Amino acid sequence: MIKRRTALTSAFALSFMAHCGNVTINKAFAQEGRAAPPPVLPSMKGETVLVTGATGRVGKQVVEMLLAQGVKVRGTARDAAKAKAEQPNVEWIQAEFKQLESLKGLANGVDRIVLTTGANTFRDPTNSPEMVEFRAPAAIVDEAKAAGVKQIVLVSSVSVTTSDPTAAQGIGAVMRWKNELEKRIRKSGSPYTVVRPVGLWDKPRGENPIALIPGDVQVPSMVTRGDVALVVVDALANPDARGKSFTVFNVTHPDLTGWKSAFAKLPRD
Ligand SMILES: NC(=O)c1ccc[n+]([C@@H]2O[C@H](COP(=O)([O-])OP(=O)(O)OC[C@H]3O[C@@H](n4cnc5c(N)ncnc54)[C@H](OP(=O)(O)O)[C@@H]3O)[C@@H](O)[C@H]2O)c1
Repeated sequence: MIKRRTALTSAFALSFMAHCGNVTINKAFAQEGRAAPPPVLPSMKGETVLVTGATGRVGKQVVEMLLAQGVKVRGTARDAAKAKAEQPNVEWIQAEFKQLESLKGLANGVDRIVLTTGANTFRDPTNSPEMVEFRAPAAIVDEAKAAGVKQIVLVSSVSVTTSDPTAAQGIGAVMRWKNELEKRIRKSGSPYTVVRPVGLWDKPRGENPIALIPGDVQVPSMVTRGDVALVVVDALANPDARGKSFTVFNVTHPDLTGWKSAFAKLPRD
């Protein structure tokens, strides 16, 4: 099984090199399924982790994984009563990212922070990307520094560094302000990890290897929200993850001869 996974990853790496020749694949890849077991991470048991966007599709899974490790979770929700009815084991805080005053004190008494909030402006046009993707989380980051938080993990996105720095609306503005938040976190002085997923999907976690490569790379692949949650939780207490920004994706190439069926799918010139 491990051999097969490694073979799949290598096959993917070769085809992937054509897409991003400036990335050193050998150095860049870190995937599940290596022969040597990963190092045992420091326990976070008994610690408190603040998760923003804890009702979201990535956030919920982060919460479940943390609770399973004996971690206390403080979660933000726009409807805290509804969130509590669904998950009573979280300390829910009613927080609206459009109102900075609702965020005061969120970082007090927490050991680590996960930021997963997403503006989703196509679903909620009242969500200004500047506010939801930048100003509100930046206020939490500022508080985190004052509170001496041990680690901040941000769920950002690929393509943030190539976004239009003047974009005012839509996905362009979301990327622009995510990028500003990344920069703010790097400058904050708090230990951090920036996780940049490619396109997210909701297939079950763990079906395909996870790959991490440095930087902001438009990999032609997807990643499950569950696998992103796993990477986030692992990064929270992992000294090797500190001060790093990387792209995460699933290695989904079906098999070593999968390219043969690609002829039919290629568009004619
Ligand atoms: N979709 C993709 O393909 C993709 C790719 C790369 C990165 N990402 C990023 O990955 C992250 C996680 O994505 P996801 O799929 O888990 O997102 P999601 O399911 O849409 O969850 C978004 C979370 O943000 C919260 N939120 C939205 N507006 C808010 C506001 N004004 N105040 C407070 N909370 C607010 C939502 O709360 P409610 O429950 O109250 O709505 C929800 O908890 C996001 O930052 C997203 O931009 C997405």
